[in-house]
Amino acid sequence: MEKIIVKDNIEGGKKAFELIKEGMRQETKVLGLATGSTPIALYKEMTESDLDFGHMTAINLDEYFGLSADNDQSYHYFMQEQLFSKKPFKETFIPDGLADEETEPARYDKIIDEHPIDIQILGIGTNGHIGFNEPGTSFDSTTRKVSLTESTIASNKRNFEKAEEVPRYAYSMGIKSILSAKEIILMVFGEEKAEAIKKTLEGPITTDVPGSVLQQHPNVVVIMDEAAAKLI
Ligand code: PGA
Repeated sequence: MEKIIVKDNIEGGKKAFELIKEGMRQETKVLGLATGSTPIALYKEMTESDLDFGHMTAINLDEYFGLSADNDQSYHYFMQEQLFSKKPFKETFIPDGLADEETEPARYDKIIDEHPIDIQILGIGTNGHIGFNEPGTSFDSTTRKVSLTESTIASNKRNFEKAEEVPRYAYSMGIKSILSAKEIILMVFGEEKAEAIKKTLEGPITTDVPGSVLQQHPNVVVIMDEAAAKLI
């Protein structure tokens, strides 16, 4: 794994953007995208750039179960606001939070199979989750409906007005699909992630820390700010 330490998330966003730009000069056609606070600086770089994404495909990691695309807490809405409305892609895919749990996982896995991901953007949870693949998730997992852990629900609370509005379930791409990306850019910002990234990079490879599986991937770049890297 290549490790890059930056001053803060703004510099981290610029670094990740450079890697994407470099990828686009070559063969990159499909970006795996993430939501949350981590990729916001990257999306700002992308929207303010003169790059054209009109030939590119975007596939997002996850969506809250039960939220419609026009709900302002949904990840559809987030992606539209942060990126897609400003930089149109050829096609974008995000799990449908209102879709039937019997059919949605297979539909989404087919999309991933048909559009192999060139570069996957990832954040990490304070509990080590990647996507919404919480501790205990099999490394062989594919898209499915997941129960969010109490710690994830607690960190997601900051984005909702009332605690009872925070969804307890989500659709998430599985760990197997994340690992199928040719390149992974993991971004980690803030002191609250220090423990999780230490275990991810230096601990044993274990389903207790889903991010630790990235040690097995041949092409991962980790961009951390100084606060997140303080235990490394
Ligand atoms: P965050 O979430 O970017 O909002 O910190 C990351 C994650 O939980 O994967």
